[in-house]
Amino acid sequence: MFYGLNKFIKRILPKQLFYRSLLIVALPVILLQITISIVFFDSLWIKTNIGMTRALVGEIKTFIKLYNSEDADKIYLESTFEENMDIDVIYFQKKKFSEVMNEKWYSPIDRSLRRELKSKKLKYWFDTSKFKNTVNLKVEGNDGYFEFFIPRERLTSTSVRIFALWITLPAFLIIAIAIIFLKNQTRPIKKLAEISKKFGRGEEIDEFVPSGASEIRQAGYEFEKMRKRILRHLNQRSEMLSGISHDLRTPLTRMKLQLALIKDKNIVDRFSNDIDEMEKMLNEYLQFSSESNKEQTEKFEFNELIQNVITQFNNDLITFNKGNYFLFNGRKLSIQRCLNNLIENSTKYANKIEISLNVLKSNILIFIEDDGLGIPIQERENVFKPFYKIDKSRSEKNSSVGLGLSISSDIIRSHGGKIELGESKLGGLKVVISLPF
Ligand SMILES: Nc1ncnc2c1ncn2[C@@H]1O[C@H](COP(=O)(O)OP(=O)(O)OP(=O)(O)O)[C@@H](O)[C@H]1O
Ligand SMILES: [Mg+2]
Repeated sequence: MFYGLNKFIKRILPKQLFYRSLLIVALPVILLQITISIVFFDSLWIKTNIGMTRALVGEIKTFIKLYNSEDADKIYLESTFEENMDIDVIYFQKKKFSEVMNEKWYSPIDRSLRRELKSKKLKYWFDTSKFKNTVNLKVEGNDGYFEFFIPRERLTSTSVRIFALWITLPAFLIIAIAIIFLKNQTRPIKKLAEISKKFGRGEEIDEFVPSGASEIRQAGYEFEKMRKRILRHLNQRSEMLSGISHDLRTPLTRMKLQLALIKDKNIVDRFSNDIDEMEKMLNEYLQFSSESNKEQTEKFEFNELIQNVITQFNNDLITFNKGNYFLFNGRKLSIQRCLNNLIENSTKYANKIEISLNVLKSNILIFIEDDGLGIPIQERENVFKPFYKIDKSRSEKNSSVGLGLSISSDIIRSHGGKIELGESKLGGLKVVISLPF
């Protein structure tokens, strides 16, 4: 049961930190306002009203009693009453009032007036809303009736509006200040989340300046330190690798020159094949590392990019199921290189090729399927290793290096994505690429 309640509360609670914090600030303020208002309304305002109404009805009853006494000086009594009580009174002799009373059940003034008049056993009619600041009251006398015009302030305390104003105004003020303050507090967290997302996708980040409360700022500083360390580490590694690859070219060239001096044709052929292959490996790696280091992220349409890569192959057996129009922010040339590697593999190891693009809620999926031999499950991890080829017979004729898949996976991962191999319905390999945005 508690679990269900917990789930329900979680569902109705706002999800964002800003709204949650606002709720924490605003809810007690609103509850406090409501409690104070109820207490004030009930125990102060209504009770004061009842007291005032009781006094007024008492005065009216006294006046009527005196007026009806036999030796009363009616004119003197009327003028004294009007002067001292601030109430206008007219006496209609030998007349009866016949209007139907239009009492408002929801008005506390009407309610307490009715109650007091009834308890004094008077026959009455009143209207509290006909005039703005005056209450109209008629009371039956001995042979006729009295009509009174009573200032509203004799029946009710007018402080209620001022009180309502003073109680709601600070509440609004507190909530407005809280909104401004909380917006400023949640902005740095949002910024940090955005920057982390960008970094995960391998996008360019300008210098990130942490801001906000000290804990958030601390998290920002730590993130920035970690980002710089990772970047330094990555750069160091790729610089070292390109350095080695670059330096290896010199002894290779020397070996090539020395080969020319060897007389045995057989040995020369075998060695020069190996040297050529090594040279190709180095060139391939150097080209990749120099390209990927320089490239900046940019916005491009994904369908268009895939179509461009396919067009370059000029192959009728490649089909493409387009996805929705989608602008992707990434390193265009690298992605193009990755798709090129994968499609090239399929053209090398299969005939028919099917490519499709799916744009989902927070990522895009690219499927590349072919009807070739496929890659056995136990080899699916290995083929991503640099210079790994499944078996020589498959790839030798095509003079391959074994870097294609490892470069592709490197590019996808640097965009925060995933690349997976599987079995295609066409019989061959299925490559699934997922890229977040
Ligand atoms: N579509 C495919 N169908 C069957 N086998 C494949 C397919 N793609 C890759 N392979 C196998 O995986 C191995 C590794 O592929 P990878 O692209 O890394 O290297 P490569 O194609 O041999 O050389 P490179 O791409 O560097 O010229 C290949 O040698 C091949 O045996
Ligand atoms: Mg390849």
